[in-house]
Amino acid sequence: MKTDRTETIDWAALRSAAHAVAGRAYAPYSRLRVGAAALTADGRTVVGCNVENASFGLTLCAECGLVSALHAAGEESEAQPRLVAVSVVAGDGEPLLPCGRCRQLLLEAGGPSLLVGTAGGPRPLAELLPAAFDSADLSARRG
Ligand code: THU
Repeated sequence: MKTDRTETIDWAALRSAAHAVAGRAYAPYSRLRVGAAALTADGRTVVGCNVENASFGLTLCAECGLVSALHAAGEESEAQPRLVAVSVVAGDGEPLLPCGRCRQLLLEAGGPSLLVGTAGGPRPLAELLPAAFDSADLSARRG
């Protein structure tokens, strides 16, 4: 029997992990703390928080930290998308939609079927980033 991933993911636990890490954000300029927590294909949880800088454009979003943590922890397979579900929340614990740059980052780490927790429930990343550029375009179009 095919298992529906949306039913087996503990969204409350993911959101709670995202909220906890939002508390460790470094966001003195915007004062918007952001935390992200994701479930990997092999059942681990990886997290990240936003890190701002006096040179504003250098700010790192929470999802950037999460993707870095994913790679830093090592993986069973380099080739496969590894994130299955992700929750991004603000300091108030409520869901925050990933910015455009982070949607692109998450696409490479989880693929179009990655489930993103939103205020209206989980949505596949493909819905949030339609017609995306990805590594297949790169392979197909370079000279
Ligand atoms: N931010 C994130 O961490 N992730 C997003 O997807 C949206 C925005 C952070 C960056 C900055 O520190 C603050 O939110 C305000 O833009």
